[in-house]
Amino acid sequence: MSRFIANNFSEYLDLYQESVERPEEFWSQFASSEFLWKRPWDSVLEHDLSEPSVSWFKGAQLNITENCIDRHLEHNGEKTAIIFEPNDQNDEPLHITYAELAIQVNKTANMLKSLGANKGDRICLYMPMVPELAFAVLACARIGAIHSVVFAGFSSKSLSDRINDASCKFVLTADGGYRGAKITPLKNIADDAIKQCPCVEKVLVLKRTNSEIQWTSGRDFWWHETIEQQSEHCPAETMDAEDHLFILYTSGSTGQPKGMVHTCGGYMVYTNFSFRNVFQYKANDVYWCTADIGWITGHSYIVYGPLSAGATTLMFEGVPSYPDMGRFWQVVERHKVNILYTAPTAIRALAQCDLSFVTNADISSLRILGTVGEPINKEAWEWYDDHVGTNNCPIVDTWWQTETGGIMISPLAGITPTIPTFATHPLPGIQPCLMDENGTEVSSIEGEGRLCIKFPWPSIARTIYGNHKRFKDTYFSAFPGHYFTGDGAKRDAKGNYRITGRVDDVVIVSGHNLGTAEIENIIDEHEAVTEAAVVGYPHPIKGNSIYAFVTINAGQVDMDRTTLESEIKKLVSDTLGPISKPEKIQFCSGLPKTRSGKIMRRILRKVAAGELDSFGDISTLLNPECVEEIVQNRL
Ligand code: WT7
Repeated sequence: MSRFIANNFSEYLDLYQESVERPEEFWSQFASSEFLWKRPWDSVLEHDLSEPSVSWFKGAQLNITENCIDRHLEHNGEKTAIIFEPNDQNDEPLHITYAELAIQVNKTANMLKSLGANKGDRICLYMPMVPELAFAVLACARIGAIHSVVFAGFSSKSLSDRINDASCKFVLTADGGYRGAKITPLKNIADDAIKQCPCVEKVLVLKRTNSEIQWTSGRDFWWHETIEQQSEHCPAETMDAEDHLFILYTSGSTGQPKGMVHTCGGYMVYTNFSFRNVFQYKANDVYWCTADIGWITGHSYIVYGPLSAGATTLMFEGVPSYPDMGRFWQVVERHKVNILYTAPTAIRALAQCDLSFVTNADISSLRILGTVGEPINKEAWEWYDDHVGTNNCPIVDTWWQTETGGIMISPLAGITPTIPTFATHPLPGIQPCLMDENGTEVSSIEGEGRLCIKFPWPSIARTIYGNHKRFKDTYFSAFPGHYFTGDGAKRDAKGNYRITGRVDDVVIVSGHNLGTAEIENIIDEHEAVTEAAVVGYPHPIKGNSIYAFVTINAGQVDMDRTTLESEIKKLVSDTLGPISKPEKIQFCSGLPKTRSGKIMRRILRKVAAGELDSFGDISTLLNPECVEEIVQNRL
């Protein structure tokens, strides 16, 4: 019913044009008509992309939880806000109404306050996909604390790096987390991490798996005991539109992960806008995004976008393979899911299985399908369309990033004509462009280049926590005045975009964004290793796999290669988590380098992918002779 949510393609085109010609009017009209503000803004947008500095709705005050919860209570208090599907399908699912959500979030917020949490404090959430995670995210927002959710698959080293980077005062975790047949010992991992984190004062522990845990009295508190006496009322802290809402880490091309900062006002406005437009959510739809809240997809499209739109959002604790590969379809049947949003890596894995897993379930409730996280190949797109959508559900291939906060390029379901592997058109408010090698914008409609965005949108990340210079260097320096995404893209004659993949040192493995430098740093720590170069190469299900090229210290060249290989794999797996483990390790006597000493990963990428005919000119290398050896010993 809002004129800002397109009903057909011509409305989309009109909205798009309006958003580009008069962006401030466009966003100020949408923001003022669709949300609860405690105070209006003084200026809609102030920006300078060379700094970069961007502020939306400056001077306005709000609390995002009033928009996600309180405002729905009067008419929709009894509507289900969250459906919780537990790991074990024999356990009862939960249906949490908006009214109950209000109570739980307020109690959680009061619990945090009772431990001494204040506005502006950073709170790390290292938790399984249970409703308490969503309550805790919203409770932080309620009291103006800044949440930093760390995916519960990360190792203790990754966790301690993230806790320290943001100086988190509190850590919220659980005794354990169920993931299929396994239990992840979250509290033990957190204990290990916190040994390296002097900033942590208190740890709240949710009982989930009844696992044996260590206890540090004075520091550790049981969730159920601490929350028991808390009031069901908690006033929503007044936040400025540009106050930090959360920090979320993403891998970069140097070792240290980047803490992307999102702010309250713009993020709220854009996640709501994009959720409603892309998924065309209708009042009684059941919407399921299969991501984990530990990633931006979960933040924006399990929690904030859907709840601010008053939707019913499903949270799934488990994995697609447990108890068998039919689990997704069982969940769809059980909860009559209408909108399913998942990742290409999951689609490829499910497409490998016997089709009876899909056909044994009644998935006829599905109306709209979505995908996100990496380029989706044609076969996977078509399998999704044929067997899940039965050629009856529009597929939205949504391109965006942790940094963008919300979906940037995507069809609007049932509105934008889809083409397999194309993310198609930018959302209203988003101004993408392609840049060529010389840094000039590709002016023809049809073209190819590096994908940039030339005008701010409300949910653009504002900085990297504690390192604004790195923010500028990474995103705003390659093409001055533009936000550089790190992706390459093609554009067809009708203006449809197709994302071709990363052009920097980030590799996406099973939908997880991995920085190759981070993996290299860990391999380098092995005493026998001189130097490592890590690249990605195509893998049929995971999208990409990790290939490491490693040189060995002169004194240790005789060391058994099989032992060394498994030691390196274990080291990476223990330090960064199993996802980062190299699938292939090739030992070499040298790595190709430029004369300034930079490893030529471009060549190694081609070797790993088996593209052995087109290295380009390698004569300018410092050590061209090593390339032949590397090619010969390729795995
Ligand atoms: C990178 C961002 C945004 C939520 C999940 C990932 C790749 C994402 C698509 C898509 C092609 C995609 C890009 C992007 N990516 N969606 N639909 N088609 N590539 O967030 O971890 O910040 O990763 O994921 O390479 O830059 P992220």
